[in-house]
Amino acid sequence: MEHPLTTCLVTGAAGFIGSHLVDHLLALGHRVVGIDNLLLGKRTNLAQALRRPDFIFLEQDVNDFDGCRQKLRELVTDKPIDTVWHLAANSDIRAGTADPEVDLRHTFLTTFNVLKLMQPFGCRKLAFASSSAIYGPHPGDLTEDAGPLQPISNYGAMKLASEGVISAALETFLERAWIFRFPNVVGSRATHGVIYDFLKKLQTNAGELEVLGDGRQEKPYLHVSELIEAMIFIVQNVKEKLNPFNIGADGSATTVRYIAEAVLRATLPHARIRYTGGAQGWPGDVPKFSYSIEKLRRLGWTPKLTSDQAVDRAIAELVKEVA
Ligand SMILES: NC(=O)c1ccc[n+]([C@@H]2O[C@H](COP(=O)([O-])OP(=O)(O)OC[C@H]3O[C@@H](n4cnc5c(N)ncnc54)[C@H](O)[C@@H]3O)[C@@H](O)[C@H]2O)c1
Repeated sequence: MEHPLTTCLVTGAAGFIGSHLVDHLLALGHRVVGIDNLLLGKRTNLAQALRRPDFIFLEQDVNDFDGCRQKLRELVTDKPIDTVWHLAANSDIRAGTADPEVDLRHTFLTTFNVLKLMQPFGCRKLAFASSSAIYGPHPGDLTEDAGPLQPISNYGAMKLASEGVISAALETFLERAWIFRFPNVVGSRATHGVIYDFLKKLQTNAGELEVLGDGRQEKPYLHVSELIEAMIFIVQNVKEKLNPFNIGADGSATTVRYIAEAVLRATLPHARIRYTGGAQGWPGDVPKFSYSIEKLRRLGWTPKLTSDQAVDRAIAELVKEVA
C-alpha cells in the first residue's frame, strides 16, 4: 500500500466485504489477486472486478496450501505481492456453534495457512478482518486493550486464535500486521446478517416476520463503504508492527426491533413481528455491546453515518438486491 501501484492479495474476495474491498483497491490503482472457494461468496459480487485486466480471480480453498502456492507462483513471478488482506472465514456464527469444525477450518486454519503461504512469496504485510466477537460479553466500552478476552462463540474464539498466530508470526517473518475488529457490517452484496435474514424470511412468509430474541439486542452497525474507507485509511497511516483497531459506528448502536420495523416499512408494512423471546438471539450471540473507536478517531477517521443511518441505507440497498 505504500507504493501506489502494488499487487494485493485478497482472500474471501467473492464475499460481501471482500468484493467491496477488491473494487476499492482496483479503483486506487492496485493490481489485485482475489481468492475465494465460493463457500459463502458469489462470483456475481465480483462482476465489476472481473471485467478489469488488473484483477485475477482464483477459485481456490485457502486451506489447500499446495494448490494456492502453485497458482500464486505462476502469477507473481514479475510482480510480488505487497499486502495480503485476509478476509476468508466462516461468517455464519450459528453454523459454527452447531459444528465447531466449521470455524476451526474456515476461521482459524485459513489464517494459519495464509501466514504459511506468505513466507515463500516474501510477503510481509498482513491486514486481517477480526471481529468484535473476540471480546465476548464485556462490561463497558470495548477498547482495543480490554481484557481478559473471553469469547462466547467458536467464531469469536477462532478469530482470537487467529490474532494470536498473527502476533506470533511478527516474531519470525511478518513485518507488519493491521488487525481490524469489525462491528456488524451492513450494505449491498451482503451474504448474511440480520437485514438479509429478515428479507429472506419475508420471502417465505409474507404475513409474519420471526425475530430471534426479544428485539432489544443492541449493537453498532457500520456501512460497508465506511468500513472499507477506514481499513484503507488505517493501512495508509499506521506503521507500527502490530496495529489492532476497532472500527465501528461513532458511539451509536441500533436495536433489532428498529431493524425489524424498518425492514417491514420498506417491504411489507402490514406484516406482523413475532419475537421468539429471550435476551440472546442464539447461543454465542452477544446481545449488547458498546464499541470505543477512540483510537481510530485520534488517528483522524470517524464515520459519517450513525448506526441507524447505516442500517437504513443498507435496507434500501438490500431490498432491491434480495428482491
Ligand atoms: N459482516 C460482518 O458483519 C463482519 C463482522 C465481523 C467480522 N467480519 C469478518 O469479515 C470477513 C468478511 O466477512 P463477510 O461478511 O464479507 O462474509 P462473507 O461470508 O460474505 O465472506 C467470507 C468469504 O470467505 C470465503 N471463504 C470461507 N472459507 C474459505 C476458504 N477456506 N478458502 C477460500 N475462501 C473461503 C467465503 O466463500 C466468502 O466469500 C470475515 O473474515 C468475517 O469474519 C465480518
